[in-house]
Amino acid sequence: MTTTRVLTGDRPTGPLHLGHYFGSLQNRVRLQDGGAEVFVLVADYQVLTDRDTAERLDEHVLGLVLDYLAIGIDPGRTTVFAHSAVPALNQLLLPFLSLVSVPELNRNPTVKDEIAHSRQSSVSGLMFSYPAHQAADILFCKATLVPVGKDQLPHLEVTRLIARRFNERYGPTFPEPEAMLSRAPLLLGTDGTKMSKSRGNAIAIRATSDETARLIKGAKTDSVRTISYDPAGRPEVSSLVLLAALCLDADPVALAGEIGDGGAAALKKSVTEAVNERFAPIRARRAALAADPAFARAVLRDGCVRAREIADATLEEVRTAMGMRY
Ligand code: TRP
Repeated sequence: MTTTRVLTGDRPTGPLHLGHYFGSLQNRVRLQDGGAEVFVLVADYQVLTDRDTAERLDEHVLGLVLDYLAIGIDPGRTTVFAHSAVPALNQLLLPFLSLVSVPELNRNPTVKDEIAHSRQSSVSGLMFSYPAHQAADILFCKATLVPVGKDQLPHLEVTRLIARRFNERYGPTFPEPEAMLSRAPLLLGTDGTKMSKSRGNAIAIRATSDETARLIKGAKTDSVRTISYDPAGRPEVSSLVLLAALCLDADPVALAGEIGDGGAAALKKSVTEAVNERFAPIRARRAALAADPAFARAVLRDGCVRAREIADATLEEVRTAMGMRY
């Protein structure tokens, strides 16, 4: 039996939050625990797509690795690595770029959206080409399954296109990976818009219980006293109900019914308790790991060594297929 190879990753731009946890991190741990071979990528070059400088990058990278370890990523089974530390992975970008046209890169809706919100004075070449780089992230280890959010689907199509065209042109080399979307419904931030590191509306996994209480206290609700679960009609209230339900492994409709006429105050109290209770062990583990940063650094270093071995082998295969072994 061949084991499934899974690759996914994050940009190191700040702490991972509860949206990440329920949307994707939990899935990774499930896949790992189910016996898949999981690769978790710290996408440090991708930080440069929408900003000119990668500020506090090393701090964010270490923080990300600590978050991974705290939520249950086991470095004995899962490879955690940064793509900047894997030269052969990056070299795959050159042949891959030859397989996609400029119009194909140009019409990527996620890239378009990021350009609209970019913090750069002008759009860099990296911004246009990063979906092809992401193909190298995925194909260097021949991953077949990529757990991602919906916004990443256009990128996965680019990866599949590149794999297909490479195979057609140079012979069968790469699998065409499948996306794996989380089944958990989307959590909104405390202001009722998409939960995002950069919007200040996210509850970090590593937040203290006091920070959590403060963020939830300030969360947007509405003026209807009876709490109900109605994501379309009452998005802010429903997202809070959903958050508590996810933390308690409960049904959101039943939970809303229990809070009933308690209003926003009772809702917020339940959500705060549910989050703080659910994340207490993860937060305690993270604090213990953070006290010894050498361990997390060693995890990343070892992961990069393993990723390099795999990338070197794939690049050899690619150069052979392309007639570039001299
Ligand atoms: N683009 C992803 C994000 O912004 C991060 C990422 C980089 C990624 N390379 C990847 C995700 C490969 C999945 C597979 O969140």
